[in-house]
Amino acid sequence: MKVLVIGGGGREHALVWKISQSPRVAEIFCVPGNAGITGLAKCVDISGEDVDGLLAFALQEKIDLTVVGPEAPLTLGLVDAFEKAGLRVFGPSARAAAIEGSKVLAKDIMAKYGIPTARYAAFDTAPAAEEYIRQLGAPCVVKADGLAAGKGVIVAATEQEAVDAVRLIMSQRAFGSAGDMVVIEECLVGEEVSILAFTDGETVIPMLPAQDHKQIYDGDRGPNTGGMGAYAPAPVCTPELYNFALEKILAPTVKGMASEGRSYRGVLYAGLMVTADGPKVLEYNARFGDPEAQPVLMLLETDLVEIMEAIIDRRLADIEIKWKKGAAVCVVLASGGYPGSYRKGDVISGLGQETAGVMVFHAGTALRDGTVVTSGGRVLGVTALGDDIPSAINQAYAGVRNISFEGMSYRKDIGQKALRKL
Ligand code: AMP
Ligand code: GLY
Repeated sequence: MKVLVIGGGGREHALVWKISQSPRVAEIFCVPGNAGITGLAKCVDISGEDVDGLLAFALQEKIDLTVVGPEAPLTLGLVDAFEKAGLRVFGPSARAAAIEGSKVLAKDIMAKYGIPTARYAAFDTAPAAEEYIRQLGAPCVVKADGLAAGKGVIVAATEQEAVDAVRLIMSQRAFGSAGDMVVIEECLVGEEVSILAFTDGETVIPMLPAQDHKQIYDGDRGPNTGGMGAYAPAPVCTPELYNFALEKILAPTVKGMASEGRSYRGVLYAGLMVTADGPKVLEYNARFGDPEAQPVLMLLETDLVEIMEAIIDRRLADIEIKWKKGAAVCVVLASGGYPGSYRKGDVISGLGQETAGVMVFHAGTALRDGTVVTSGGRVLGVTALGDDIPSAINQAYAGVRNISFEGMSYRKDIGQKALRKL
């Protein structure tokens, strides 16, 4: 079969890599892809947000299965448009993906269906939001309702910071119409864990729990990024927590979405904070996480195409999902200056030397006259399998040492929180 993957980051390289191992797949296209993906798929330069252009391409190429990586095409209704045209596509509809596209909707669903989350209120005017901030006190969290490329959440240490965040979002409109509404919520304290699940709208099968590293510097210091590394399985997720996440969070969310006429098919990502008072949902995403997908997909034993097809046909209950033993760790190599402004176009050296069990997933890379150069903030994700977390950490950092480019920066402590638990 012919498969089309939409997106061009490390997550999509991992998706293409895993899909390419399916005996059922003859050809893969990726839009827009990156330098690493070119070895596995034909990369085509169409914007991931040009739904009409993508549909025309998929029809013309007679694509058998389309897989959507990032959130924007999902909330724009790519899945709806493809299904309407009779194409098979993996991911939630626009109404279902709204669980990521609108934080107000996500919070309202959680409140309605009794899913544990931070106390909150939603506002469509700045003065009302500011009044609630004074009532709630600091610290608190201010969230733009809509998609803001991961920048729409401000954890405010003081009431003034929270008020400034509301003004930035609602008055200065830093994120455009994503800031028409804001959610103000209580600040939760604890350790974060990402639990992603496959679901066909009825059956819910969680993947191995993963942990992201959002801040740019070691010890979780500095500004937030798209994610500087991840590992799985995360020991913070005990068997009790896993069962709680499935029974009290993921399953009721999928059931609640169906009752709301928002039947959810695809990957549902629950970002949890493990608090002294139990796990609580920080956010939902309508897709695989990046970089969580890299270690999680390296550990997936089952054919991903089989799983996706079963979800499309609403027969996920018939599938057994198997995982490799051991652990996987992904260390992201970023451009100097990221998540602020950074250089592009620097030559990357040391690629292609990875040992067995190590994959260098490309994110912000491009080809210039046949040479791989940097083209984004997060450049590569060196991902390694190991018998356990310590050995996967060693393998991943051994892989990192082969690679260099001007200004390359990375965290040296990916996985350390797991070591403290083991
Ligand atoms: P989100 O996009 O909602 O996941 O928020 C991004 C990050 O902000 C999360 O991964 C957390 O680190 C942090 N965050 C979000 N909501 C809260 C909260 N209620 N309390 C503490 N931190 C939060
Ligand atoms: N790694 C967090 C995300 O994909 O949203």
